Amino acid sequence: MKWRLTIIIFLVTLSGNFLINACRKGQEDIPRKTGLTFTVPAGFPAPLYDFSKNPLTEEGFQLGKMLFYDGRLSKDGNYPCASCHHQVAVFGTYDHDLSHGYNNQHSNRNATPLFNLAWKDAFHTDGKFKTLEDECLDPIQAPNQMAEEIGNVLTKLRKDPHTLQMFKAAFGTEEITIKRMQKALAQFTVSMITANSKYDQVKRGENSYTDFELRGYQLYKTNCASCHPEPMFTDYSYRNNGLSVSPYLNDYGRFLVTGKKEDSLKFKVPSLRNVSITFPYMHDGRYQSLKACIEHYGNNIQQSSTLDPLLKNGIHFNSNEIIDLVAFLRALTDSTLTKDLRFYQTH
Ligand code: HEC
Ligand code: HEC
Repeated sequence: MKWRLTIIIFLVTLSGNFLINACRKGQEDIPRKTGLTFTVPAGFPAPLYDFSKNPLTEEGFQLGKMLFYDGRLSKDGNYPCASCHHQVAVFGTYDHDLSHGYNNQHSNRNATPLFNLAWKDAFHTDGKFKTLEDECLDPIQAPNQMAEEIGNVLTKLRKDPHTLQMFKAAFGTEEITIKRMQKALAQFTVSMITANSKYDQVKRGENSYTDFELRGYQLYKTNCASCHPEPMFTDYSYRNNGLSVSPYLNDYGRFLVTGKKEDSLKFKVPSLRNVSITFPYMHDGRYQSLKACIEHYGNNIQQSSTLDPLLKNGIHFNSNEIIDLVAFLRALTDSTLTKDLRFYQTH
């Protein structure tokens, strides 16, 4: 892979600098636009997102951002994507186990933070969606989330001259289609990158760990890295990490998608990046603190036929070790994205 190593994820090209492949034949929806470069951070693998099908442009990004913060995508105007995906919590729901949706309802799972999505080949904790483009139609139509029909969204958007102009800027004509909406939202969300935590800085030789963090790093490498490996801090597999089934939510994870018994109670291993600001934790937000998550691996493991063999005997830590491990997990926090004004709601 010849990906350039840099932490800057996009370079806004100077006006007049057009996307080179913009005029390729047969690619409708890709007129001359201000191209954005997606730069892979140092040490990251090659992304899986197919940028050739949806090249990033400044205009596409801005349209996606507008839609992400746009109440018109929801039935009563109150539930844009951003109502559950808060920038301050790396685009997860801040401090809520389940997030609020239309008519005082709530989602069935803890809202996943949105970052480094270009490296995922499936979305939702059960992997129900294969692409970002497919995923975004789900919350819009879910009765307990945005509760709107796509047709109504299009009608609302088409009435607004400013929105028509933004679609024209991004895609060449004023035509507002589902596909264009999906592409624009995907351009915005796929640009959410975090790769500048203390961990990354130490890797780059720009910072050094405290003794606590260093001991925590060793504990992490021995006990956690098999499922949450560097540098993404997930292996993207589905595993049963021994959580009890909530009788209220009755959530069997990956099983709901594949229908296979062996997938029962398996959930996608989440990244531990930014984990200090994505509380509460696990698919249903049952744990409030990192300490509680670590203690789960020692005290609460539920035995079952699909429990991951690595956790059969639990993983036990003493109180000093828990402090060290938490210190390391905190070193995975990156405030670059949470403070980036480019992603901030501006209208
Ligand atoms: C009512 C709250 C709510 C709203 C509104 C909402 N989401 Fe979500 N989002 C969630 C929840 C909850 C999940 C986790 C779903 C799961 O794992 O089953 C999620 C998951 C996702 C994921 C998957 C992330 C991953 O890594 O797997 C993406 C992408 C996403 N949302 C984008 C959006 C976009 C784009 C919109 C607007 C069109 C939106 N969401 C609106 C609650 C919401
Ligand atoms: C056998 C694989 C496995 C091992 C080993 C493992 N985890 Fe996990 N971890 C998971 C899975 C799967 C989940 C998601 C469960 C869910 O969503 O319900 C998870 C979730 C978490 C979460 C919650 C993250 C969030 O955003 O909700 C934290 C924190 C965590 N693990 C920390 C650790 C630590 C620390 C260790 C080492 C002591 C560790 N894990 C070892 C598989 C594992």
